[in-house]
Amino acid sequence: MNLTPTYNLNQPIDRHNTDSSKWRRYGDDVLPLWVADMDFISPRPVVEALHRRVEHGVFGYGDTPAALRLLICERLERLYGWKVSPPELFFLPGLVSGLNLVCRAVGILGDGVLMQTPVYPPFLTAPINGGRTVITTLLQERNGRYEVDFDAFEQAITPNTSLFLLCNPHNPVGRVYERWELERMAEICLRHDVLICADEIHCDLIYNGHRHIPMASLSPEVAGRCITLMSPSKTFNLAGLGCAFAVAQNPEIMKRVQSAAAGIVPHVNVLGYVAALAAYREGQSWLDEVLAYLTANRDYLVDFIQEHLSAIATTKPEGTYLAWLDCRNAGIPGNPFRFFLDQAKVALDDGARFGPGGEGFVRLNFGCPRATLAQALARMREAVEHDR
Ligand SMILES: Cc1ncc(COP(=O)(O)O)c(C=O)c1O
Repeated sequence: MNLTPTYNLNQPIDRHNTDSSKWRRYGDDVLPLWVADMDFISPRPVVEALHRRVEHGVFGYGDTPAALRLLICERLERLYGWKVSPPELFFLPGLVSGLNLVCRAVGILGDGVLMQTPVYPPFLTAPINGGRTVITTLLQERNGRYEVDFDAFEQAITPNTSLFLLCNPHNPVGRVYERWELERMAEICLRHDVLICADEIHCDLIYNGHRHIPMASLSPEVAGRCITLMSPSKTFNLAGLGCAFAVAQNPEIMKRVQSAAAGIVPHVNVLGYVAALAAYREGQSWLDEVLAYLTANRDYLVDFIQEHLSAIATTKPEGTYLAWLDCRNAGIPGNPFRFFLDQAKVALDDGARFGPGGEGFVRLNFGCPRATLAQALARMREAVEHDR
């Protein structure tokens, strides 16, 4: 690990006038700590590789670089002992496309799709878009962390349930599931003939003391019943470049996903490939620095809330740069998202959009310079104190 910082992550970067969704939606007087991208510059090798590609000046149709397929397979084996071969990868412009495709590729119209809430909102809409129904169970907060309610999980499965959408690390609650939890979820799914789609987009953003385990790496049996969705986009802050991939080791499932995509889902753009390749090849030292920075941001945030916003409850994220704040007992009038937007000029994500269990919560993105985070928290504190 590179111990001397080479990136100045403290330095705020002006993202106005860059077509940033995060920075455009709420006007110039609002600090945006919502949507999941970070306010950090990407790894230098990525920026340089993009420069070289742009200089070439010809941007015709692309094709997945064989080197990227190999690099990803090598990475999955190195990090997780998970053996994947290049044809078992299917490239997509984003994970949300992947979630929607998988909902259409698995089962039949009207089938149930199981998920645990609160959860990333497109989980709730993907089944509906594909003519399926949504089945939810609640994650349970116990002793400062969210846990799977295995009884409710199993009881929610009906003969028409064909798919379980797993989010690991779990957005928004920041859990990184342990092996035994994954094994138990997988065992239940396999016993009930439920396929698993594992959204593991946050898999590289894991804090000390925790370890990401891909669901499909548990065993060949699980791999044969699992589609994994991953991407360098959260890891290296490349969300706007649209390069993601699905891993399906069951050829029948791969065929179904590919035919659901045919003619509808566009190819990954050439710059997305260039960035992904450079990031996986040369981005690790940047990632080490960013993880150290995010760890300090996370701890700053949790301490600040305990000290100055103590009526708000939160858990310490094990992964992701997202914090899930329980404002239900904070005496905040109305919807807390609205309150912080109007009174503090801080844009968060409205917990109500994350399905059952989300009402009264907000999600805060701490992937930003410390000064931005500190300013947002100070504004939130002032708004809450002013309202007393
Ligand atoms: C769990 C999860 N899945 C998928 C996405 C979005 O993926 P993409 O931008 O590749 O569609 C996000 C972004 O926040 C996410 O948190």
